[in-house]
Amino acid sequence: MTTETEEIARLRTELHQHNYRYYVLNAPVIGDQQFDEMMHRLQELEARHPECHDPNSPTQRVGSDLTHDFVTVAHKRPMLSLSNTYNQQEVSDFYERVKEGLHGEPFQLCCEMKFDGLSISLHYEKGKLVRAVTRGDGVQGDDVTENVRTIRSIPLVLPEETDYPEEFEIRGEVLMPFSSFEKLNRERAERGEPLFANPRNAASGTLKSKDSRVVAERQLDAYLYYLLGEDIPCHSHYENLQLARRWGFKVSDAMQLTDSLDEVFAYINHWNEARHSLPFATDGIVLKVNDLSQQRSLGLTAKSPRWAIAYKFQAEQVSTILREVTFQVGRTGVVTPVANMDPVLLAGTMVKRATLHNADVLEALDLHLGDHVLVEKGGEIIPKIVGVDQEFLTEERGPKVTFVTHCPECGTALVRNEEEAATYCPNDACKPQILGRIEHFISRKAMDISSLGPETVDKYFSDGLIHDVADLYALTLDKLCPPEVDLFGNPLPNNNRQEHLQQRNVLAGIEASKQVSFERVLFALGIRFVGEVAAKSLARNFRSVDALREASLEQLLEVNGIGLVIAQSVKRWFADEQNLQLIERLRGYGLQLALTDNELSLHSDKLAGQSVVISGVFAHHSRDEYKAMIEQHGGKNVGSISAKTSFVLAGANMGPAKLEKASKLGVKIVTEEEFLTMIL
Ligand code: IVH
Repeated sequence: MTTETEEIARLRTELHQHNYRYYVLNAPVIGDQQFDEMMHRLQELEARHPECHDPNSPTQRVGSDLTHDFVTVAHKRPMLSLSNTYNQQEVSDFYERVKEGLHGEPFQLCCEMKFDGLSISLHYEKGKLVRAVTRGDGVQGDDVTENVRTIRSIPLVLPEETDYPEEFEIRGEVLMPFSSFEKLNRERAERGEPLFANPRNAASGTLKSKDSRVVAERQLDAYLYYLLGEDIPCHSHYENLQLARRWGFKVSDAMQLTDSLDEVFAYINHWNEARHSLPFATDGIVLKVNDLSQQRSLGLTAKSPRWAIAYKFQAEQVSTILREVTFQVGRTGVVTPVANMDPVLLAGTMVKRATLHNADVLEALDLHLGDHVLVEKGGEIIPKIVGVDQEFLTEERGPKVTFVTHCPECGTALVRNEEEAATYCPNDACKPQILGRIEHFISRKAMDISSLGPETVDKYFSDGLIHDVADLYALTLDKLCPPEVDLFGNPLPNNNRQEHLQQRNVLAGIEASKQVSFERVLFALGIRFVGEVAAKSLARNFRSVDALREASLEQLLEVNGIGLVIAQSVKRWFADEQNLQLIERLRGYGLQLALTDNELSLHSDKLAGQSVVISGVFAHHSRDEYKAMIEQHGGKNVGSISAKTSFVLAGANMGPAKLEKASKLGVKIVTEEEFLTMIL
């Protein structure tokens, strides 16, 4: 019979293997459910055996909300960068320099992708990940080990049967695949948060997050491309990486050895096109002398090795004519300049609009209407104007494009805070801001009034029926519909009745939203920077809108996950008399502005430190609900009874073996009813 500690070891090994098959090889051999079951079992066993704690256990990939400042550590070997080339001539020059440096000795170049993320150095000792450090300034970087542990494609423990060195360093690139990047930006847009400009910025922002749970959620990936150490196995770069792949690292299949400059160019030309179908961003090709002793004899310059070079892809660029610049006002009042151009085909899509970001970018570009402009799609998904096409530049240019001084929607003078790039319309009553706020309020994750959509909101606004979110609750059937009967009581045609039905539906949706919990109401209010998660933390901590309004900046900052930007934004929102009036009106309509007794009672530390076993069939709640309740009150749900079990939550038909074990170990049996009073 295996002991539980043996089972822990076995599960860890198996889960590491399944994880590798799924995230590195893209070839899982078991289903998600089976994987989850094994993971739960391991979690359960680890909870019972704290002496077996291991930071590299597969269970540690979910991150923790303990915030941490990064410790700066010196690199064991400096992390150099590569010198860049932008054309084939410079690549030829590099080839010649290498040839000369090696005095005519034959050599091979390893060609590989240049991943567009941020570089990372991983240290392994005895097959275990011990430290992960960012590049920093090349001499020292940030220790981001905890965050890196959540990246599923980075092995935490190497398979024992492989022959890895006792100690080594492997470097590579952490990146965010396009799919994760797009999902992240969609969510940020919904929350009114600033978007990441490209996957590289998103990956770097994520890896530097102080909360490793955030990193775990955002699905980063990592490719490794450089093995270093005292006793690394092979004499060539390529072979070493093939071995590293066997140890479980994600090493690109696109690596290729070449014997001539022609082969190098063929590789470059192939990937210049083919890279567009990769699921992540690349910005060039890296060429490395393959033989390690040749690398050593070529040596380094102060900044980069002489044995390697990067060839950067030309971002795809086209020229077209700038016709007009419009200024868009968003929900939070930020004004964004948008270029409207003659339609042009770029990287497979027709482009006619491009964002000009903000006043500084606009000024730097020095655009005039009618200019030929260069449009590019680089790592950025949204096309951008990179400059004026000098080839077409003439003495006589159209009028210069300047940033508007007044809001194009309401005419209010725009403002700009010194430390921010954005320009705002300060008028809360500006139409796109009002509509944006209402649309956010009714959205699925906020009040979830799905019977209302943007067009209806727009119509109600134009008809003068709503000016803010509280007005929704004053709507009545009379206000929304033409009468169902005429003045003499005769029924009117069918389409009126149809209309009635629709509007009734809208009103029912609005009525139902009065039951939406306070944490979502708080999110729905659209306070700048207060996303779903922040709203939840604030609601749980302060419990009512009144307490939140009274909270000092210091008290707000004490809440987990609330930083200065959010705290200041909350203070600013509650300092506005109009917002306070809005709250009072919403209160009058019966919205939830505090957590209810029920919601409050569901969150305590009454079971802190207790392990509870659930057994049998229950009458009042499902097993899963009980499981959730135990956790919400600080307890832990464990699988089987041991001396450490605090009590057994027992329903009907608890198995006789369990009953016997509990009584033998003196573990208390608690009925459903007793449990519910315990957590009251
Ligand atoms: S090798 C001494 N290989 O490009 C050689 N770097 O400009 C060290 N990069 O800091 C780097 N893909 O972040 C190497 N296949 C690749 C790469 C790569 C992306 C990045 C890396 C480095 C930067 C150099």
